[in-house]
Amino acid sequence: MSDLPEPFKIKMVERIKLHPREKREALIRQAGYNVFMLKAEDVFIDLLTDSGTSAMSDEQWAGMMATTQAYAGSESYYSLEKAMKDIFGFKYFIPVHQGRAAENILFSTMLFPGSYVPNNMHFDTTEANVLRNKGIPVNLVVEEAYDTQKILPFKGNMDVSKLEAFIKEKTPEKIPLIMVTITNNSAGGQPVSMQNIREVSEIAQKYGIPFFIDACRFAENCFFIKQREEGYQNKSVKEIAREIFSYADGCTFSGKKEALTNIGGMLCTNIEELYEKFKNLAITIEGFITYGGLACRELEAMAIGLYEAIDEEYQAYRHRQIEYLAKLLRDEGVPIVEPPGGHAVYIDAKRFLPHIPPEEFPGQALVVQLYIEAGVRAVEIGSSCFGKVDEKTGKFVPARMELVRLSIPRRTYTDNHLRYVAKSLIKLYKEREQIRGLRRVYAPRLLGHFTAKFEPIN
Ligand code: F0G
Repeated sequence: MSDLPEPFKIKMVERIKLHPREKREALIRQAGYNVFMLKAEDVFIDLLTDSGTSAMSDEQWAGMMATTQAYAGSESYYSLEKAMKDIFGFKYFIPVHQGRAAENILFSTMLFPGSYVPNNMHFDTTEANVLRNKGIPVNLVVEEAYDTQKILPFKGNMDVSKLEAFIKEKTPEKIPLIMVTITNNSAGGQPVSMQNIREVSEIAQKYGIPFFIDACRFAENCFFIKQREEGYQNKSVKEIAREIFSYADGCTFSGKKEALTNIGGMLCTNIEELYEKFKNLAITIEGFITYGGLACRELEAMAIGLYEAIDEEYQAYRHRQIEYLAKLLRDEGVPIVEPPGGHAVYIDAKRFLPHIPPEEFPGQALVVQLYIEAGVRAVEIGSSCFGKVDEKTGKFVPARMELVRLSIPRRTYTDNHLRYVAKSLIKLYKEREQIRGLRRVYAPRLLGHFTAKFEPIN
């Protein structure tokens, strides 16, 4: 791994402030022990998400200023189309305001009641959009993805034999599309190999099922392929991306991740008939297709940001920074998901807090303690996010993993910030027996974790 420093210098800064501990305790109590309810200004280091939190470049800002603003036919639409054709290579695309808008259009068009959507692993909004359209989301990731300590190069892979057996069992007619999420955000930000994508594509073709990629973190995934998969060392990230997308019929994309913008997304496809349907729905719910529910300048920022995201010096820095945080934690025995992913370091809260059962949300308990201890905001990806309440029995069904994600916003924090985060977590790990679980006192059925309320258990 490269030990070169950041391939940029800082031109503008945002002040951050650490409140005294008593104030942090009061704030998290008022927030119902849910960090989504905190004001951002009350957070010292914000690792809630890598989405919409990137620092944009001077070239992006300059491009935004220079582009025209129009309802129809803005030049930024054509810049983005050019970048999309060059990097993704799909025939058609529709800009949308963010990834979940692309999911909404895709699933509203393709799903029918009782239809299945196999994915390596759905992320929360993807799962919710499938359910909202009366579909059934099914996760068919390789079993090793659930073993946080198992070191494999491509732990995000789809289990292709499970996928084929699933299609045979349910019949292709009940499966309107197959998805693969790169990287697999729900289980550690783990990459999917080119070989796996090719195999999924072959199965999809064999059964005549359209294949879509959730491409939120495609460039990080490509960089992992370059480093880890035989035959790709001498290929550029762009060539790898083009090959990945050549196997798919389309993709959803959140520009808030790897277009290095604060808003934006895309829905792409090669299927003309689908494009026509997507287009009409997009105009109804997002906006005309040359602005996609965005100010035109945002399209320009995405077009420029996509090239910055596939820049290999940038990717090397990005992966080095994630590994830096992972190593600080690993060296002190803090249980993290191994190997670390492309956009975050995930802590295995089941191992960190073995004395807290899933019904008491160990991940959420750790997130809350980290805020109290250090003013650092992480996010739970465990039973608060993916646990279910069985509608028939009313019984709580926990998630398979209890993770805490330390997402690293792109180009935003220095290694010093991350050293502080690691130090705080290591201190908590040494005192872990004192950390208590939480009782959930409120949560809506879909995407409950965003607005859930908790109380400490003493
Ligand atoms: N798919 C994946 C894999 C995601 O990680 C996200 C967002 C989306 C789709 C939806 O995109 O936010 O632009 O609507 N993930 C963010 C996160 C929110 O924190 O991981 P969006």
